Amino acid sequence: MAYDRVELRACAKINLSLDVTGKRPDGYHEMKTVMASVSLCDELTLRLTGDGQVRAACNLPYVPTDGSNLACRAARLFLDRTGRPELGAELEIRKRIPVGAGMAGGSTDAAAVLRGLNALAGEPLSAAALAELGGELGSDVPYCLTGGTALATGRGEVLSPLPPMPDCAVVVCKPGFPISTPMLFGRLDLKKLRCRPDTDALCDALAAGDLPRLARRMYNVFEDVLPRRCAAVGEIKTRLLDLGALGAVMTGTGSAVFGLFDDEDAAQRAREDLRADWRDCFLVRPVNGV
Ligand code: C5P
Repeated sequence: MAYDRVELRACAKINLSLDVTGKRPDGYHEMKTVMASVSLCDELTLRLTGDGQVRAACNLPYVPTDGSNLACRAARLFLDRTGRPELGAELEIRKRIPVGAGMAGGSTDAAAVLRGLNALAGEPLSAAALAELGGELGSDVPYCLTGGTALATGRGEVLSPLPPMPDCAVVVCKPGFPISTPMLFGRLDLKKLRCRPDTDALCDALAAGDLPRLARRMYNVFEDVLPRRCAAVGEIKTRLLDLGALGAVMTGTGSAVFGLFDDEDAAQRAREDLRADWRDCFLVRPVNGV
């Protein structure tokens, strides 16, 4: 029996800069990354049920809807930890965020499930408790609970809010292959990194609302360790810059690349141009929150 339902949007993120500053004893890496939410989002409908089961449906047939889907794991974790194992949940996920793109598609769905079930259940968990649960699901989930522009350190779960991004057009293009996050972390040799982002300078540009300066400061250390088969990432970056982007960079562990434009028409032309070669192209804007 369905008790109630809620509909939510789950925004994608982009990494304006991404640095990895150390390896931790727990096998994870120390991060220093600036993330921002964009208007590309998945849509979720959640229902609480009384049968103790978590069920999911997704518009994309290749997305798993069993316990390997992070959104399903989020629902189970929430119901168990809030002392409601007899309750279940039905999740309907309409995916628009490309999978394996470095845009936190899975993490943002999981965060939306935590927010939505908490609302349906009468807010039993504080924001801090939800973030704690989110951290158990994945390093990006705490950020996805609040979104907006933020500096993330630690595993990615230590968050400091930053001023919103200046309004601009963001063209996102994902080549036809996903990139595995653990695989790319495995290729990092911190002693051999040739270049690091100047995160403080990027934060200064954000504070000044200076889009060209911000775009010039964007950098992602993972671009340096991409396998040869990922050459399309560099090709898309070059195309975005040729087409008028103020700056272009890979997001997260890829494979999507985005460019920032101050000219909406140029951004539209860039998306159309790139779409001739890569199907997953989007024109989106920064959003302030989830
Ligand atoms: O936290 P999450 O499950 O999203 O991380 C996926 C994988 O990415 C981890 O298993 C690990 O290999 C790598 N990772 C890391 N350091 C981080 C975040 C992720 O090494 N801070």
